[in-house]
Amino acid sequence: MTVYAIIGGTGLTQLEGLTLKDSLPLDTPYGAPSASIQCGDYAGREVLFLARHGHPHRFPPHQVNYRANLWALKQAGAEAVLAVNAVGGIHAAMGSGHLCVPHQIIDYTWGREHTYFEGDIDHVTHIDFSHPYDETLRQRLIGALCELGLPHSSHGVYAATQGPRLETVAEIARLERDGCDIVGMTGMPEAALARELELPYACLSLVVNPAAGKSSGIITMEEIEQALHEGIGKVRDVLARVLAG
Ligand code: HPA
Repeated sequence: MTVYAIIGGTGLTQLEGLTLKDSLPLDTPYGAPSASIQCGDYAGREVLFLARHGHPHRFPPHQVNYRANLWALKQAGAEAVLAVNAVGGIHAAMGSGHLCVPHQIIDYTWGREHTYFEGDIDHVTHIDFSHPYDETLRQRLIGALCELGLPHSSHGVYAATQGPRLETVAEIARLERDGCDIVGMTGMPEAALARELELPYACLSLVVNPAAGKSSGIITMEEIEQALHEGIGKVRDVLARVLAG
């Protein structure tokens, strides 16, 4: 059976229901991952769990050691990665609480350690990234969302922004013109690093606020926390359904 790794984002620093067997404080050639990797049984199968921002939440999106995280998961035996992220909604369909399984991503981040191919390497590898998410994994997520009867979008373009600040109204208007549907700060370089390690990767995005300019007011942390609080149970249900399948 495929060993799944779950990367939990904001609001998902622990996987409730995980029967913990081991906690691996792995070090990697790229430094330490955000937290120890929790290994255990979840929904009847072996699962690895990593809190992207640390546990407790310590690393903002631009300071997450994405390379160490993916490397450590691979070392721990991960064969596929399901990533969870909180996002802002750009498209009108992406209201707070909505779930989206993106099919494309545009990378607007900068200055992050974004590749394993650097330094003294004997070959330069240009990975194919035409379709950044693994279609089989995406379909598993979509299947679980359908079985649970949860409203969702089975496609969406994820805009990965640098953060930690939220965007301006003009920036969101530009992302919309670029064809982006949701915006978050953790989608990249995570997806590309997984591809470099040949780890199938897909993500489940929970909309926690209308993006800048998409509502009449400003964006508050309170509304984000409230939406996370209300939505994270659905995320857990979807993950459990995928893993049980
Ligand atoms: N923008 C970027 N990242 C986010 C947002 C947003 O509006 N909401 C949650 N993560």
